[in-house]
Amino acid sequence: MNCELSLRLQTCLDALQPLQTIADIGTDHAYLPCAGVLKGQFKKAIAADVGIGPLEAAKTTISKYQLESMIEPRLGSGLTVLKPSEVEGVVIAGMGGKLIASILEADVKLSQSFQRLVLQPNLDANILRTFLMKNQFEIIDEKIVYDEKKFYEVIVARWTREPIHYNELDIEFGPILRRLPSCDVFQEKWQKEFNKNEEIIKQLPINHHRIKTLNNRQSLLKEVLKNES
Ligand SMILES: C[S@@+](CC[C@H](N)C(=O)[O-])C[C@H]1O[C@@H](n2cnc3c(N)ncnc32)[C@H](O)[C@@H]1O
Repeated sequence: MNCELSLRLQTCLDALQPLQTIADIGTDHAYLPCAGVLKGQFKKAIAADVGIGPLEAAKTTISKYQLESMIEPRLGSGLTVLKPSEVEGVVIAGMGGKLIASILEADVKLSQSFQRLVLQPNLDANILRTFLMKNQFEIIDEKIVYDEKKFYEVIVARWTREPIHYNELDIEFGPILRRLPSCDVFQEKWQKEFNKNEEIIKQLPINHHRIKTLNNRQSLLKEVLKNES
């Protein structure tokens, strides 16, 4: 049996390799843990969600694929559902970067214990990267995909004893993504924002209070777009 994933979730699943035991925090339908167990990537998974409805949906998928012995559904907020050393890593996907950061921040010690964190913020990736830097989580890999007409960034991180320093460009665009020698999806995402801002700037009066912020943003965007050309 096979559980087909969206490109976004498949990218998160791939980023969890080589882990064999994971928790999917905010699992909703538990598609990712089910797909991972079905393909033999995970020996054990925990599918957790704070919502009763999403957890029921998770149970339905687990039962559809008869994976009850390998995937445990758990109801609860964030990492509170986990005991120390229970899983090698966690995935937190499909939420805002601020919420993902707050879930990790609620138990920094437990967050530090994982071999890897796979994080897929739907927005505010910069807030999440700032949290990671301040709490000594090193970004070890990043992916960007275009799926269902949206861009998604996937951040893979792990705690390190060394302080981490990311500059403004790293925080905004990703320390790994922005250094990729050629990545069309990355270019398209930021070119789109650049073009949109140009239109807004053109339409605003020259002394409008938003112009300065928009021009600063355009300068940052030019840096990463320039690096790619
Ligand atoms: C948009 S869904 C994403 C589902 C799946 N992870 C994905 O990427 O397709 C977000 C899920 O996160 C859950 N959620 C939100 N806050 C949470 C928290 N603090 N702890 C656990 N789950 C949470 C919601 O109930 C919802 O089911």
